[in-house]
Amino acid sequence: MHSVSGLNQCYGIAGQVNFIRDAHGFDLVEVTNAQATARLALQGAQLLHWAPVGQQSAIWVSDQAIYAPGKPVRGGAPVCWPWFGPHESRTDFPAHGFARNQLWEIVSVVALPDGSTQLSLRLPGQEGTAELWPHDTALDMELTIGKHLKVDLVTRNLGDQPVTVGQALHTYFHIGDIRQVSILGLEGCPYVDKVRHGERHVQAGEIRFEQETDRIYLDSTRDVVIHDPVLGRRIHIAKKGSASTVVWNPWLEKATAMKDLGADGYTHMVCVENANAADDVRILPAGSSHRMEVCYTVAMETP
Ligand code: BG6
Repeated sequence: MHSVSGLNQCYGIAGQVNFIRDAHGFDLVEVTNAQATARLALQGAQLLHWAPVGQQSAIWVSDQAIYAPGKPVRGGAPVCWPWFGPHESRTDFPAHGFARNQLWEIVSVVALPDGSTQLSLRLPGQEGTAELWPHDTALDMELTIGKHLKVDLVTRNLGDQPVTVGQALHTYFHIGDIRQVSILGLEGCPYVDKVRHGERHVQAGEIRFEQETDRIYLDSTRDVVIHDPVLGRRIHIAKKGSASTVVWNPWLEKATAMKDLGADGYTHMVCVENANAADDVRILPAGSSHRMEVCYTVAMETP
């Protein structure tokens, strides 16, 4: 594993890309360019901050987050892979897979001619995870950080048997007030309601929040928009390679039980997760790959 100074020597770009070890002992890459700032933890390749220039972060991290080796931080954009939610047959396996708990490696860092910055990371050989995932696969993440945030997750099946992969980019968006936001773009989509024992319903109109919400939307390939009248912005979420979108807010009772979400944390976050979940898990034939792409854009509303 590289030290922070080694990472800076290999991949640092003066004034643009800097590796640091923070007060919790987490190795982070910090990006500052003419279009945006961002911060990503090498543990889990977990994005913790992205703000287009002149704006607050679009990404929420709990002020009660626990920073511990092998534990995902509450907030940011954890990577759920190679399954989403509980494992289908093993209750003792970690929820949302193991990619979010492991240290990732930097593959390359590039300053792009348009002023944005591209980071490529790889989840290294899954030692210690053979029992959890006895398959020969590779997972890469490519991020382009600028006025848009683009994140691609690429899974390759290196083995000689088909493999079924579930995943999500479990992004916690920073919002002004959960009671006032609405989510557009999922109208007419069927969804699995995890709060109601997996019942299936169809979304009528925009989504608004009045209670715990935990849903996997299916047939969801269109762009989704988070309209936040309190922060006066719309976050646009575009996707490819994903036909499911998870929408989650734990509301007060569950958030209180979670300890790392903070007393009123749930009011300032909403998870909108581009996914391959439920009916949308992907079967990768031997030798094939699958790319799931998301692109976030923040549009400020004129007062
Ligand atoms: C969401 C799930 O994606 O993640 C929820 O739909 C889950 O059911 C939530 O509670 C948080 O998961 P975790 O493992 O990070 O606490």
